[in-house]
Amino acid sequence: MTLARKNILLGVTGGVAAYKSAILVRHLLDETANVQVVFTPSAHEFITATTLQALSGRPVRDDLWDRQAEAAMGHIELARWADLVVVAPATAHFMACLAQGLAPNLLTTLCLATDAPIVLAPAMNQAMWRAPATQRNAAILAGDGRRLIGPDEGDQACGDTGPGRMVEPEELLCAVRQILAPPCMKGLKVLVTAGPTQEALDPVRYLSNQSSGKQGYAIAQAAAAAGAQTTLISGPCHLPAPTNVERIQVVSAQDMHDAVLSRAADQALVVGVAAVADYRPAQQAEQKIKKGAQGAAQIPLEPNQDIIAAVAALPTPPIVVGFAAETERPLQQARAKRQRKGIDAIVVNDVANPRIGFNSNHNAATLIWEGGEVELPYQSKESLAAALIQHLTERFFAQETSRG
Ligand code: C5P
Repeated sequence: MTLARKNILLGVTGGVAAYKSAILVRHLLDETANVQVVFTPSAHEFITATTLQALSGRPVRDDLWDRQAEAAMGHIELARWADLVVVAPATAHFMACLAQGLAPNLLTTLCLATDAPIVLAPAMNQAMWRAPATQRNAAILAGDGRRLIGPDEGDQACGDTGPGRMVEPEELLCAVRQILAPPCMKGLKVLVTAGPTQEALDPVRYLSNQSSGKQGYAIAQAAAAAGAQTTLISGPCHLPAPTNVERIQVVSAQDMHDAVLSRAADQALVVGVAAVADYRPAQQAEQKIKKGAQGAAQIPLEPNQDIIAAVAALPTPPIVVGFAAETERPLQQARAKRQRKGIDAIVVNDVANPRIGFNSNHNAATLIWEGGEVELPYQSKESLAAALIQHLTERFFAQETSRG
């Protein structure tokens, strides 16, 4: 358990999203963390202290002047007790207080008094989030080293649509894990493929697909952040190279195959996120094909090699993880695909779901390996990448990295 016995102070302020903090408590308790919930006065308007007391197993603290509670653990002791403070939801008012160093209640006082890292999950109406004062406060808080997660965009409880929704509890859990138990890939070499491939038909035309490369780039970034020596083999896309990652740009599936296979043998982990074209034009015309030319309306195709299956077939292969985008029976299809390709694990997403997909900034998936599966629920692609790297490290490299 990565969060075992960690002390987490969960601040709840007055926002509709307060119900999500109850789910976060459950997730933290599942990891055997200690959770102390602290309410601001207005949090009581949105969720009951009884619910959070029952879930966390500790009375909710809400009053700086409560002599009995202060006698048990005073607010300064509580501030010292915390390994991490998470404020979810964090209202515009709470953010303003924290940005200005105001301490009108127990939670704001604790935030001033603690040396622990503070994570905030802003949640408010979209106009309140966009207000210049809130944006100024968000910038001050980020500059002070507070970590702001979200907000997400979408439909709001007030009927508006836009930025201001609190991120899902699972995304917060992932951030908590990253701060308190960051995955360690020091000393490991990781190779990631990302983006589409382009299969040339003639000097100006090609066959390709909609892959944006965002998920693969985020995975390379997360591996590098975990300390891995990371190589990204990228098909054509418009993203900047992630920091501390060696990026090699390729065009066709054949180029990608050659770039991967020439480096695969000494990698610890290969993650194939690229949307590699299954087929390429059997012939590439040297000159632009003229409209009406004989055979111009047909494109004979031949298959490309499966890159990750080839890596998995090496005499001493690295751990190989593939991706599968499926539209029907995704889990069954992906389990079969993992075995067919002879790879260690596969990440499957249901691309029939309109909230996720090629150009979206969000994703939801299931990681499947021999004998186990774990859900990576709806969250930003960056957050899903961090969660995936965390799971892969725990599952496949825990011993190697703890030795180093
Ligand atoms: O078979 P399918 O294309 O659905 O498999 C997807 C997975 O296989 C992805 O991880 C993708 O990067 C990888 N792949 C590959 N080489 C191919 C086709 C797919 O590495 N030629």
